[in-house]
Amino acid sequence: MAEPAAFARILNVEDARRAARRRLPRGLFEYIDRGCEDEISILANRRRLDAIALSPGVLVDVSHPSMEADILGRRQPLPLVIAPTAVAGLVWHDGEIALARAAARAGIPFCVSTQSITSVERIATESGADLWFQLYVWKDRRRMLNLLDRAWAAGVKTLVLTADTAVGPNREYNLRNGFGIPLKASWRAALDVALHPRWAATVMLRALASSGIPTYAHYPAEFRTRLGREALADEVSLAKDVTWDDVRLLRQRWRGKLVVKGVLRVEDALAARSHGVDAIVVSNHGARNLDCAPGPTDVLPQIAEAVGDRMEIFADSGVRRGADIARFLALGARGVMIGRATLYGVAMGGAGGAARVLDLLSTELRTTMGMLGAQKLADIRRVESAQQVGR
Ligand SMILES: Cc1cc2nc3c(=O)[nH]c(=O)nc-3n(C[C@H](O)[C@H](O)[C@H](O)COP(=O)(O)O)c2cc1C
Repeated sequence: MAEPAAFARILNVEDARRAARRRLPRGLFEYIDRGCEDEISILANRRRLDAIALSPGVLVDVSHPSMEADILGRRQPLPLVIAPTAVAGLVWHDGEIALARAAARAGIPFCVSTQSITSVERIATESGADLWFQLYVWKDRRRMLNLLDRAWAAGVKTLVLTADTAVGPNREYNLRNGFGIPLKASWRAALDVALHPRWAATVMLRALASSGIPTYAHYPAEFRTRLGREALADEVSLAKDVTWDDVRLLRQRWRGKLVVKGVLRVEDALAARSHGVDAIVVSNHGARNLDCAPGPTDVLPQIAEAVGDRMEIFADSGVRRGADIARFLALGARGVMIGRATLYGVAMGGAGGAARVLDLLSTELRTTMGMLGAQKLADIRRVESAQQVGR
């Protein structure tokens, strides 16, 4: 792993984002960077976070702040988890392994996506990270359960059911860019790749030379050929009939911790609790799915109050600064997932790039805590009557 110091000019997540934009073909960059439909929600997530003021306590000794957090029975040095992001393996060669290595170095879990380009077995063997596994429910539940057996055998102990993607999201820029999995050849895509020769050589040509055109590693082997894909299309398409019955099934079959991701209502949080779920992620999927969704910040306080200590609550969507992590914690989250920020990092420079982003976020969180007079995460408090500052 290139040492994070090699990225000395990258001073914040926005710098990493710009570096990723330079490196990646436009279709791929927009896939990771943008939102959905009119992209109202992505801006709104930013505004909502910015509007949360934190309350500084003065004259507190902050020479030894602790950012330690207890996440699902494990004490970690930081309250963070790297979020599941489909196709991380397209932004860097074996990008999922790179993300997992950065997570391992920071002592935090990495959540592998169902739609990962690298298999959970390889990520486990080659990273040594504490791996979580994110599940999209396939129509064929038998195949889905086989996939869970694979994840368990690879050493995964935490399963994350994503509940906020009942139907395919509307992302028009992907259609305009001709971007999708399986990757399709087009003049536009060829030009896009030709304009980004570093990415073409270090990601696409390496993939072609080793395992062929990159595709979803957890899908059955037949999925790699066109005919096989057509035959399987129905079985491994994302089910639209995912209900609490599936949560019941997963609770029976999964021996480890169970997390439901994408909860935005108090009653759904309480239902998760009553189904024996160990944690929820209050998330609007990084504003990628429902453009009129509330922000996690809008609902987190009510959910935290209703759930109390009976279930762990994590949050994500929009973290670009350590202060954003502090904001989510102040609203009641125990841990925070990081999606695009570490993806920009890995796109800019593999495991070292992702590690640089994690270093920046943790340094910013420590600085924020120092300014707030917070010796530990539980000391972070919001201003109760925060005015909407907007932008
Ligand atoms: C490129 C990309 C792919 C994603 N793929 C998945 C996925 O496969 N499963 C999932 O549950 N969430 C997925 N997400 C959502 C993230 O897990 C997370 O909720 C979101 O990125 C958090 O917002 P942030 O990117 O602003 O940090 C994806 C996000 C991005 C940016």
